[in-house]
Amino acid sequence: MTQPKVWIIGNRGMLGTELSELFASRGISVTGTDREVDITSQDALNAFAAEYKPEYIVNCAAYTAVDKAEDDRELCRALNADGAGNIARAANRAGARLVHISTDYVFNGNGTRPYREDDPTDPTGVYGLTKRDGEVFVLQENPESWIIRTAWLYGQHGNNFVHTMLRLMGERDELRVVNDQFGSPTWARDLAGIVADFIVLSGAGTSVPFGIYHYSNGGEISWFDFAREIFSLGKRFGILDSGRNVTILPCSSAEFPAKVRRPPYSVLDKSKISSVLARDVPGWKESLSQYLKIKASKGKY
Ligand SMILES: NC(=O)c1ccc[n+]([C@@H]2O[C@H](COP(=O)([O-])OP(=O)(O)OC[C@H]3O[C@@H](n4cnc5c(N)ncnc54)[C@H](OP(=O)(O)O)[C@@H]3O)[C@@H](O)[C@H]2O)c1
Repeated sequence: MTQPKVWIIGNRGMLGTELSELFASRGISVTGTDREVDITSQDALNAFAAEYKPEYIVNCAAYTAVDKAEDDRELCRALNADGAGNIARAANRAGARLVHISTDYVFNGNGTRPYREDDPTDPTGVYGLTKRDGEVFVLQENPESWIIRTAWLYGQHGNNFVHTMLRLMGERDELRVVNDQFGSPTWARDLAGIVADFIVLSGAGTSVPFGIYHYSNGGEISWFDFAREIFSLGKRFGILDSGRNVTILPCSSAEFPAKVRRPPYSVLDKSKISSVLARDVPGWKESLSQYLKIKASKGKY
């Protein structure tokens, strides 16, 4: 079977790097670009697509600094909304299907049950608003697109909560972590596997309906309980000294004032993706444990 030809945009970011590694390990023919093919330039995107002739494009490029975005609205919009639209237009012109990554921040986080794909969006900050507009532009410009909303992403590359916690737990005797925001952590490698599934299934001729999907790891937890599990597993796998004692205290979001209010509840309902791809969603604890085990064996974090 011939492998589909894939272009990963934003290939040096946290998810893009993980995807590039996973695709290469599965023998999927992939090329990647980051800032050198600027997503704010339609001409640059069209020119690269014309030369590489991808069958699939995955967009991992975005403006992801949630608080900074409040003071940097134009750049954030240029990337997350207009840039996403540019990519979808380039994909359409090249006859390529697009996987676009979006976020739980399109919701206001006031829900009391996991968010479904057709729940009304109501972003509360510039980042969420521009990501929501990006979704709209993507579906307008290239109806042959899959949009995957995800949340609480961590992985081997880049800054993320797991790395920050491990670092602070190695440095401090006491930590305060918010206990009033609930969500589901997502290992970037699990999400990369889902993206690969869309492409491989579609490349093999299986019809995978286009549109919006939700994906995170299973279960729900507060940042505080997530931090406690990182501490416990970090010690178990030898990333942190097994005798180390750090007092982890719960606190409220009010103790960490931020420019943008964080969604108090951002659990995503994964039943659609699970049924379309016929795949179980691994629980957050299982994935965190697998991730930290790998990290420990490579001796770095
Ligand atoms: N991280 C999370 O917790 C999270 C949660 C939910 C959804 N998401 C979504 O998941 C996706 C991937 O997130 P991530 O955390 O992997 O993002 P990331 O690490 O910030 O990666 C984004 C990449 O895009 C690049 N980029 C910036 N401006 C560009 C431009 N003009 N043209 C081309 N590339 C450009 C960045 O380069 P520089 O680093 O040089 O700026 C970076 O390599 C995003 O769509 C994000 O909204 C993330």
